[in-house]
Amino acid sequence: MPQQRRSQNKTDREESRVDNLWHWPANGREDVALLSEKRCVGAELGVDTGQLTRRFLELAHFSKFHAVDKWDDIAHSEHQYKIVKERLSVYATVEVHRMTAQEWLKGIPDESLGFIYIDCYAHTGQDGGSVLEAAWPKLSIGGIFSGDDYDRRYWPKTFSAVNQFSKRVGRSVNVRDEFCAKAGPRMDRHPTWWWRK
Ligand SMILES: C[S@@+](CC[C@H](N)C(=O)[O-])C[C@H]1O[C@@H](n2cnc3c(N)ncnc32)[C@H](O)[C@@H]1O
Repeated sequence: MPQQRRSQNKTDREESRVDNLWHWPANGREDVALLSEKRCVGAELGVDTGQLTRRFLELAHFSKFHAVDKWDDIAHSEHQYKIVKERLSVYATVEVHRMTAQEWLKGIPDESLGFIYIDCYAHTGQDGGSVLEAAWPKLSIGGIFSGDDYDRRYWPKTFSAVNQFSKRVGRSVNVRDEFCAKAGPRMDRHPTWWWRK
């Protein structure tokens, strides 16, 4: 297939993937954000299509919300970033950042976030646990530390990274059935983990 048609097909696919997921109704996973203090600053690390970001924003809970994703590989490209940024632009409180979570976290003050949701690649164990390490100092005391894919069977690396990190910081891992969807997109069906700092 000629190069130009191949890349056109790819951008069409990215567009329709965002389209398909964008209007997905709230189904529980976003409610973990409601454990954080109203009007705090929140962040989702690993955004992909922005379908969960939209649901966090629809809660009207945050004074500001940062959506951070590197969008730098074949599955999640710069083109996808542009689509997601444009769609999220209807929300006044959101800022979209195209960089690694670790880089973005390095540039913000300690204890400046009241809610963090970590959803970078599950198969890498959130970059070998390094996203959790970089995020923890940025959470204020009493803030909610959370993330996706706490699933021993499907995502063992994330499951053990979260367990190891929770031990290191002396917290117990919580999960709740209502933060795990029974239906909806595949990525919504793995347990969300959380604890309070
Ligand atoms: C599972 S998707 C996120 C799904 C999204 N939170 C949702 O619920 O719809 C994982 C995303 O993490 C991003 N990602 C992976 N490692 C990252 C890192 N170290 N920093 C920032 N983004 C990363 C990928 O580009 C990808 O878009």
